[in-house]
Order: sequence, then C-alpha cells, then structure tokens
Amino acid sequence: MLFNSYTNAELTLSNRIVMAPMTRCRADHRDAVPNDLIVEHYRQRASAGLIISEGVPVSDRARGYLNTPALWNEAQAAGWKQVTEAVHAAGGKMFAQIWHCGRVAHAALHADGSAPAGASNKPAATQTMVPDANGKPAPTDCGQPEALSLQEIQGVIAEFAHSAKLAMLAGFDGVEIHGANGYLLDQFRCPAVNNRNDAYGGSLANRYRLLLEVVDAVATEVGPQRISVRQSPYGRGNGMIVDPEPMKTYPWLARELNQREIGFLHIYCQTADWIHDAGHSLMPALRDNFHAGIIACGGFKKVAACEAILERGHADLIAFGKPFISNPDLVERLRQDVPLAKWDTPTFYAGGAKGYTDYPTL
Ligand SMILES: Cc1cc2nc3c(=O)[nH]c(=O)nc-3n(C[C@H](O)[C@H](O)[C@H](O)COP(=O)(O)O)c2cc1C
Repeated sequence: MLFNSYTNAELTLSNRIVMAPMTRCRADHRDAVPNDLIVEHYRQRASAGLIISEGVPVSDRARGYLNTPALWNEAQAAGWKQVTEAVHAAGGKMFAQIWHCGRVAHAALHADGSAPAGASNKPAATQTMVPDANGKPAPTDCGQPEALSLQEIQGVIAEFAHSAKLAMLAGFDGVEIHGANGYLLDQFRCPAVNNRNDAYGGSLANRYRLLLEVVDAVATEVGPQRISVRQSPYGRGNGMIVDPEPMKTYPWLARELNQREIGFLHIYCQTADWIHDAGHSLMPALRDNFHAGIIACGGFKKVAACEAILERGHADLIAFGKPFISNPDLVERLRQDVPLAKWDTPTFYAGGAKGYTDYPTL
C-alpha cells in the first residue's frame, strides 16, 4: 500500500510516503526568506508523495530559533514560490507547516525585542540559540514569556490565517498547523502550562479552543481538505508533561477535526514505541473518530513496519523525518529495499550545504 497513491476530495498524492517537517535553519534571520539552497533541498526530495515543510513562523514574534525561513510577508512567500515550483516540476506536492513557537523563544530572536508569547507566564525549561556578540549562534535558556491577552490571541489566529493565505499564493498544496512538540498551540493544550481562567484555559474544550479557532480561520483560506493538524501524544518535548488523559484528549480532538472535514491528522510518536505496537489503543481510537487521512510518524525505517500499520487501518500515510535528511531518494530506496544512508546529526542546524543538499542519490 505504501507505494499506492492517496486521494481526497482536493488532492492526489503519488504515494503514501510523507517527508516530515524538519527545521534546518538555512535562511538568513534578518529577512527569513527561503533561498536557492532551500529550493534545492526540497527539489531533491520531491519524490515523496507529500513534503511537509519545516516549521515556518507565522510572525516575527512566532520565531523561536535562528535562521528559520518564515511566511508572514510577500518576500517570504516569493521565496517559497521558488520552492513549490521546483517541487511541482519534479512531480511532488508540498504543504507549509505554519508555526508559532510561543514560549520556546527568546526576545533576542524578535526584531522588536518582544518577549516570548505564552499560554501563561511559565517559562520553558529548554534552550534555544541566539546570536552572540559576534553574531554567531550561542545556546541560551528560553526567555520569560508573557501570557497572551484575549486581544493578542485574536491576533495570533489572524497571523495563522494570513500565513495560510500567503502559503496558497506561494503555490503550496495546503498547510499543516503545528499543534505538536510543546510549541504555542501545544502549550495551550498542556494543563501543566496553561493555568488560564478565561475561555482558553481549564476544560479540554477551552484548552483546545485556540487550536480549533486557528483551524477554522485557516480553513476559510485554504479549505478543510488541504489542512493537516499535527499532534504529539505522550510527548514531553520542550517542557511538556505527558497528557494526563491521552485516551480522552486526542480522540476528542480527532472528533472535532473530523466534524470540520479536515484532510489530515498527523500523529508524531516521539518515543517511537506505542505507534508501532498493534496492541496500543490510541491509534485505533483516533481512527474511530477521524475518518480522513491519518499520517503516522516516528521511527519508521522499514517498508514492513509501514505496511503493517497501513494494513491495520490505523494510518493512511507514513511520515519519515531523519531518513529523508540523508536519503533524498528515500522513496526509491524503500522501493528497492536497499540500505539507507545514515544521517549526520551535527549538520542538522549547522547552516550551509553540508549535510543539507550534498547527500547522494543511489
Ligand atoms: C532536524 C529535525 C528538525 C525537526 N523539525 C521539526 C519541525 O520543524 N516541525 C515538526 O513538527 N517536527 C520537527 N521535527 C520532528 C520530525 O518531523 C519527526 O517527527 C521526527 O524526526 C521523528 O521522525 P523520524 O523518526 O522519522 O525521524 C524535526 C526533527 C528533526 C530531526
């Protein structure tokens, strides 16, 4: 099944292999415009049925890392247009992953020096990189966030919608809303971070209110079938605690997204164990509640493991992250069942072509 096409009301993907979103920090922080190197990186990987771009910040304040290409203005959209044209010319399809880092950020990353935006004032116990005195990236603790006001929350929703609109102008086939990995939308979900006592805190419906308002605003720009929503159940990344009620939380969201006829629910298993366990109850519960495309991600390397979850019906597509870094022709390698090249971790965020566009094809 992995090599079969996938179709919904709006899109046809040539196979069920998805390139997972991966931040690679190859833009210039000052303008955050995608450059020729970024075009080449994605062009090389266009045999994926669907590429999901690295997280693209929806505003200056949404940025949490140095040198991430973004999507909040027309210059950035023009840069992404070069990328989508190259991917389309090579026969691929591509979504932009629209992203707000929230408290996983530092004021030094924001042009106006604004504090990180938070669901609350609780800081993230994690680090990011900021420019040192010589402009070189230096690790530093994330900054003190400021809880978003109700008015600022409306602004964030508008930023996501504007970024989605720009994504369509830039020729993307759709967008993925980054609701995972401890970034802003996940911070609102997390009861250990979100201590609000307004309409955006407390009950599950309140903690998911921002995500669903973002989904609705984005849907008016791109249509529901061209949206993916990413979640990371059981995730601990960026200071999250494991959701206390995962069997309630994630199926609840799946049902809400299903009612809105959203095209894709993207599940990232950070620990790469439960998603491969046929006896684990979360994926079947998601399937019961979400009837469109479920993308499974985390630790997939072999065709057999992909076919197993597809055949169980617990997923429709499989996303690969690190294997796509070092195997630009991953689809062909899986098809031929040849060994995969190892990825080079030190060059993940290093800048430049090394470890980015210089991995050979077969
Ligand atoms: C270098 C790197 C950057 C990543 N950046 C993002 C990102 O921008 N957005 C996101 O949702 N996940 C991001 N991830 C997580 C991947 O999308 C994926 O879920 C993870 O690598 C697990 O899949 P794998 O086992 O196939 O690598 C990143 C992972 C890596 C290795």
